[in-house]
Amino acid sequence: MSLPARRRTAILISGRGSNMAALLAAASDPAFPAEIAVVLANKAGAGGLAHAAGAGIPTALVESRPFGRDRAAFEAAMEAELARHGVELIALAGFMRVLTEGFVRRWEGRMINIHPSLLPAFPGLDTHARALAAGVRLHGCTVHLVTPGVDEGPILAQAAVPVLAGDTEDSLAARVLAQEHALYPAALALLAAGRVRLEDGRVVTDSAPGPSGEVLRNPG
Ligand code: GRF
Repeated sequence: MSLPARRRTAILISGRGSNMAALLAAASDPAFPAEIAVVLANKAGAGGLAHAAGAGIPTALVESRPFGRDRAAFEAAMEAELARHGVELIALAGFMRVLTEGFVRRWEGRMINIHPSLLPAFPGLDTHARALAAGVRLHGCTVHLVTPGVDEGPILAQAAVPVLAGDTEDSLAARVLAQEHALYPAALALLAAGRVRLEDGRVVTDSAPGPSGEVLRNPG
């Protein structure tokens, strides 16, 4: 029996690439609806590049620094790489450049991002420190479709974790990151399988609901 065509996906990174590694691992299953066509980094030191190359995945380096403030020229260079690899979908995974509205509009509905908070709480940086400072009892991560406003796009999937007494930024970050690594592949699978649509600016999926009546409560 032949499997349906897999959507050719680029993962864009700037750093260590642990979410990228989780996506690569998921996509190593031929039944996963996305195949990773290229891992593209904007920094030569991005640790994820070596991991991807070691896994036999094509890599591309388009350094943003030489382009200075000329974001459109940087993005044109990225677009050339994406086209060269026949990319249909983009997963941002710790990609630390704000994209122009033009780039985002070209990929709208086909580009997702993972953010380490339960959006719309704590958009931007230092999410774990801000969650601790705010005293929230639940924290987590979000996968969203990318729109021009940073961390504002329609929410596709979320996972919540408890904030525990004595948590530090690092302990909380580690608890969230473990969930990111499970959530991101699941969210990419939904998008790649064509199971995501927008209704009134919100995401609707046909994914099965979780166990009925389940409540995530902290303290339990
Ligand atoms: C993750 O926390 C992700 O949510 C955020 O940047 C971090 C990237 O980590 N967007 P990694 O490079 O995937 O390990």
